[in-house]
Amino acid sequence: MCSVTGGEYSRPVTFKLEGESMALFRKNDTWDDTLPVPAHLGIIMDGNGRWAKKRGLPRTAGHVAGAKVFRTIAKHCEKRGISTVTFYTFSTENWKRPQAEVDAIMNLLRDYLKESLEDFKHENIRTRFIGDRTALSEDIQALMAEAEESTAHKTGMVLNLAINYGGRAELTAAMQDLANEVKNGTLAPEDITEDVIDDHLYTAGQPPVDMILRPSGEYRLSNFLIWQCAYAEYVFDDILWPDFKITDLDRALTEYGRRHRRFGGL
Ligand code: FPP
Repeated sequence: MCSVTGGEYSRPVTFKLEGESMALFRKNDTWDDTLPVPAHLGIIMDGNGRWAKKRGLPRTAGHVAGAKVFRTIAKHCEKRGISTVTFYTFSTENWKRPQAEVDAIMNLLRDYLKESLEDFKHENIRTRFIGDRTALSEDIQALMAEAEESTAHKTGMVLNLAINYGGRAELTAAMQDLANEVKNGTLAPEDITEDVIDDHLYTAGQPPVDMILRPSGEYRLSNFLIWQCAYAEYVFDDILWPDFKITDLDRALTEYGRRHRRFGGL
């Protein structure tokens, strides 16, 4: 077990103790709505393959189960007052997986997009996509455009799906845009501020990421929202994504809500 304790730390800081704090929540299992919730939550839906393997099922069965959990958790985020949530659905690196697995994830995405056009009609959720969509099939691109257009007027939570998304690719594209603007004379190098860089990202206009949630016992960011996470709080959990419940999200949000954020100050 851990630990960084005492001194200027208001409480111990380690994963082990974070787990203990989660265990405390389990005992009470009530939602404390006085705690702050993240304005922007990023979720890495990890553990689908291991979940399936444990059951002797193909990896794709894990993604099917994971896609169901995604729907439940997305709606619960809205209920908890989170203003923006980003789900890591398919990374720029995920193309390296076997073609059958890539196809299965794309089919799940296609199904979800068709269904959400109906299902999300009754929700006050605005759907957005981040990532390079030009590499996706044309029908998926069309469904994405339709999902964005049909929810553009919604005033509630923004639901970002990161598809063919990579943080380094996003920053590279932003730098190319900025370089072109400087070359064309529409931007002076000294006018490139942090806000200007923000405005050139897929998440332009959205709040910085306050919290990253990664289940499945892995402790990595995996090229997810690397600029936007500069001051994010990380909450890890060992539950595999297809087993993730709304009470698990509440525990993770409680862990976040109890942290003391200083943003480099005191
Ligand atoms: C990571 O688990 C998961 C992915 C790379 C894909 C996530 C996709 C879905 C949940 C389904 C599609 C989603 C929507 C929104 C319809 P992993 O496969 O790397 O798990 P492992 O680490 O156990 O192998």
